Amino acid sequence: MSERPKWLDNAVFYEVYPQSFKDTDGDGIGNINGITEKLPYIKGLGCTAVWINPCFESPFGDAGYDVSDYCKVAPRYGTNDDLINLFNEAHKLGMHIILDLVPGHTSWEHPWFKESMKAKRNEFTDRYVWTDSIWEEPVGYGSLRGISDRDGSCAVNFFTHQPALNYGFYRPTRPWQQPTDSPGAIATREALKDIMRFWLSKGCDGFRVDMAGSLVKNDEDGKGTIALWQNIRAFLDEEFPEAAMVSEWGEPYQSLAGGFHMDFLLHFGSSHYNDLFRCEKPFFNGSGDASAFVEKYIDSYERSGGKGLICIPSGNHDMDRLARHIHGDNKKLAFAFLLSMPGAPYIYYGDEIGMNYVEGLTSVEGGYGRTGSRSPMQWDSSANAGFSTAAADKLYIPIDPDSDRPTVQKQLADENSLLNEINKLILVRQANRPLQSLGKIEFVCKGEAGKPLAYIRSFESERIFIVINPGVNSAEIEVNFSFGEVIYSFGKGAALCENKCTVSAGSAVFVKIK
Ligand code: NOJ
Repeated sequence: MSERPKWLDNAVFYEVYPQSFKDTDGDGIGNINGITEKLPYIKGLGCTAVWINPCFESPFGDAGYDVSDYCKVAPRYGTNDDLINLFNEAHKLGMHIILDLVPGHTSWEHPWFKESMKAKRNEFTDRYVWTDSIWEEPVGYGSLRGISDRDGSCAVNFFTHQPALNYGFYRPTRPWQQPTDSPGAIATREALKDIMRFWLSKGCDGFRVDMAGSLVKNDEDGKGTIALWQNIRAFLDEEFPEAAMVSEWGEPYQSLAGGFHMDFLLHFGSSHYNDLFRCEKPFFNGSGDASAFVEKYIDSYERSGGKGLICIPSGNHDMDRLARHIHGDNKKLAFAFLLSMPGAPYIYYGDEIGMNYVEGLTSVEGGYGRTGSRSPMQWDSSANAGFSTAAADKLYIPIDPDSDRPTVQKQLADENSLLNEINKLILVRQANRPLQSLGKIEFVCKGEAGKPLAYIRSFESERIFIVINPGVNSAEIEVNFSFGEVIYSFGKGAALCENKCTVSAGSAVFVKIK
């Protein structure tokens, strides 16, 4: 495997949901030029890279995760040239842009699927996972049946309108299940490379890969999917060694083996991520327990060779807003954690100002309960919070109606704001190698109920101790080192007396170890 792109070593990502970020043409929906216009803001926050949710042509039954043309920017966002301009402008600012690649399924409106539905054999007959009889359904998947003359059922990956692309079955057990080295599966894989080649050759810096671990079917241990990504890794090493690859997989030991540079920690499955931020008693609200999270994290860390290339997001377009569960200054403590962990942190647009989950919205574009986390960015006090000049009833999703909603403008002016605290934390991270992607981590206290979360980040001979206590009482832990320079402190801080570290309620401290 080639060297990983150097810029990932201290990357801090900002996720942009393009529909809701900034509308520069007054049609009520965000666009690519809006992202370009706001790059200096993202850079000012301290972020170095941007992940854009799918911005390609689509019927938008799943907000663009149902692609109908992978190589064309959806007209509502602008043109391919606008996107290329965004790449160029980002590069001028020393920033990077990764696109969202959706390899597991297309929209049922994709021309490949229209061809694949035909009874007569053609180039796309094997592009999707079809059974060979309308009366047999692909066990374990939803399916599309009775929709064309083709005698078969087609597996779906997510919503009904997202037919599953065919990368083969690791262990075929039915005649219609094609092996991973069958011509149909190989053709799909090569088509995926063509899409990647298309955007990488235009200046995109890499991809966040949707549902990356689910491509090969009947593949419980992920071996077939890992082999598929290794094949793609070899192609990237050959043609685009600088491309960054981040997976939505949730098992870093598998994803990194497949050649990804980093893997996302997911809010579902076994990660215990929700214990920290989104459950009845989240750790960062002061009364929860982080230990199950830490144990799973250590397990993943060790199984992926101590690399820690696990990206922890503040939130994303699929989960509740952080601010729905974590209140007041506890959000700053949550960011002190997010911005001092290995891998690359991801900040979901608006989380930096503590944007609310907007309650009671009707689903937009397959958002359902996710819609409340996708409302327009709140820039300032002008109409529509500065998001768009369209009439309020023409907006993609209504603006948070709260008259006291946070805005960038207000928070830039307030030195104690969440936005300014995050900026401070990013600067501390960027000034200290141990805090960046590749610094090692060792836990000192797992944040059991009533205890702080404490860990040591290290790089070569430098060591930094981090202790975060979101509780309402001060807490004590034993340590076996002395404190040097304090490089970050929030709240009343921490004190060391002999081997006892006392950390005040609602505090976070980063201190060099002597
Ligand atoms: C994960 C994406 O984050 C989500 O928004 C989407 O609906 C599914 N994958 C299906 O592509």
